[in-house]
Amino acid sequence: MKAALVSGAGIGIGAATARALGRDGYHVFVSDILEAEGQAVVADIVDDGGAAEFVLLDVTDTAAAEALVADIEARFGHVSALVANAGIAPRAGYQILTDEKWDKVFDVNLKGQLRLIRAAAPAMSAARQGAIVCVSSIAGAVAGWDDHWHYSAAKAGITGLVKAAAVELAKHNVRVNGVAPGFVRTAQILSEENSLGPAGLAEAEKTVPMGRAADPAELADVIAFLLSDKASYVTGQTIIVDGGLTVAL
Ligand SMILES: NC(=O)c1ccc[n+]([C@@H]2O[C@H](COP(=O)([O-])OP(=O)(O)OC[C@H]3O[C@@H](n4cnc5c(N)ncnc54)[C@H](O)[C@@H]3O)[C@@H](O)[C@H]2O)c1
Repeated sequence: MKAALVSGAGIGIGAATARALGRDGYHVFVSDILEAEGQAVVADIVDDGGAAEFVLLDVTDTAAAEALVADIEARFGHVSALVANAGIAPRAGYQILTDEKWDKVFDVNLKGQLRLIRAAAPAMSAARQGAIVCVSSIAGAVAGWDDHWHYSAAKAGITGLVKAAAVELAKHNVRVNGVAPGFVRTAQILSEENSLGPAGLAEAEKTVPMGRAADPAELADVIAFLLSDKASYVTGQTIIVDGGLTVAL
């Protein structure tokens, strides 16, 4: 059985992705700082006939990320599917955007992805098998987001990380891609404090050509595709999944 590792898989896009990979036959490592939520995702996957286990992982902890990958490698040889998804989007106008707030968002959203890729890539390369998907955002990959300079900059950084890792790992038959979601109905976007909130999302949906936000499962399907052999010649790309938002005039 092949192993999949998803960060931030307790809720939202990560949880939907973990479920999709469970259906695709992976043994899914559901990792998050939210234990109860992650355990619930594991239970869903197992109820569905799949294989999964929860692992507590804060992606800002280098030693923990490396220990988790080493454990997976001891049991499965290498990580076959890595989804670097964990992310935060705290609102902070630039006037109050301290070094600490900037560094925290970069630590989770960008370096948190590096920590997992750096740990998993050597064994994937040696096995000449596996794929990686990093979750970016249209805020950064395509556009900007007010009060979220740190978030937009980190998410733009992910597109560069994806390209560099893709070039480096291509010769080892390991593919690296990104997805840049638009509006997705999750806890992150429904937060009044940090994002649009329910009323703001309803307004924002009117600006989307498809007229609605995405369900997390619609992101999970694209991530699962990029991890699959159906995307065997796709690497270094960040696929925008936004219902047409960023191509609308
Ligand atoms: N929802 C959207 O509209 C949207 C749009 C563009 C990009 N994204 C990105 O998609 C990804 C998933 O977001 P979501 O909408 O599902 O958000 P969410 O808030 O529902 O889920 C984020 C997950 O990341 C986890 N997480 C946060 N900090 C962590 C840490 N230090 N270590 C490990 N896990 C941590 C959380 O516990 C949670 O499970 C994020 O990277 C987010 O920036 C979301």
